[in-house]
Amino acid sequence: MQKEYSFKFQLYPNWESLQTVDISVVNKAFEAMKKAYAPYSKFKVGAALLLEDGQIIQGNNQENIAYPSGLCAERVALFHAGAQFPGIAVDLICIVAKGDLMPISQLLSPCGACRQVMLESENRQNKPIRIILVNQDNRTMCIDSVQNLLPFGFGTFQ
Ligand code: THU
Repeated sequence: MQKEYSFKFQLYPNWESLQTVDISVVNKAFEAMKKAYAPYSKFKVGAALLLEDGQIIQGNNQENIAYPSGLCAERVALFHAGAQFPGIAVDLICIVAKGDLMPISQLLSPCGACRQVMLESENRQNKPIRIILVNQDNRTMCIDSVQNLLPFGFGTFQ
């Protein structure tokens, strides 16, 4: 039996054309990005979560001289939300980044470990989390659910 998985996403030339609430979350992600601690990679990542009660939670990458001890921006934000506001659903996560690690035309997209964590947040709350990815060249992708970023994620396939 052959099966197929596909999903639709929106692509915009920049984030200024998003709806007002989304723009405010993007701005918070940029604000968080500037405060990242990334002296080793010099690649600063910012994440902002919009919770269902309207709060915006920020996170950024936190590196360490023992490299694997650091943590990505997305997980810093999600774990902070989980620790401080358990039970309040995440409606949206926006991720932005800046640095020479990759060409500016390269797609900025969360790493596999962050996708797994994002997926568990989505499944726990039983409500999709929208994702906004702003590339370094400003191209902006909007994705409706973490499920689309990690189909067949560990422990979550239905
Ligand atoms: N990083 C993130 O913060 N999020 C990702 O999804 C991928 C990578 C961070 C980790 C490290 O501090 C730097 O970017 C370079 O990999």
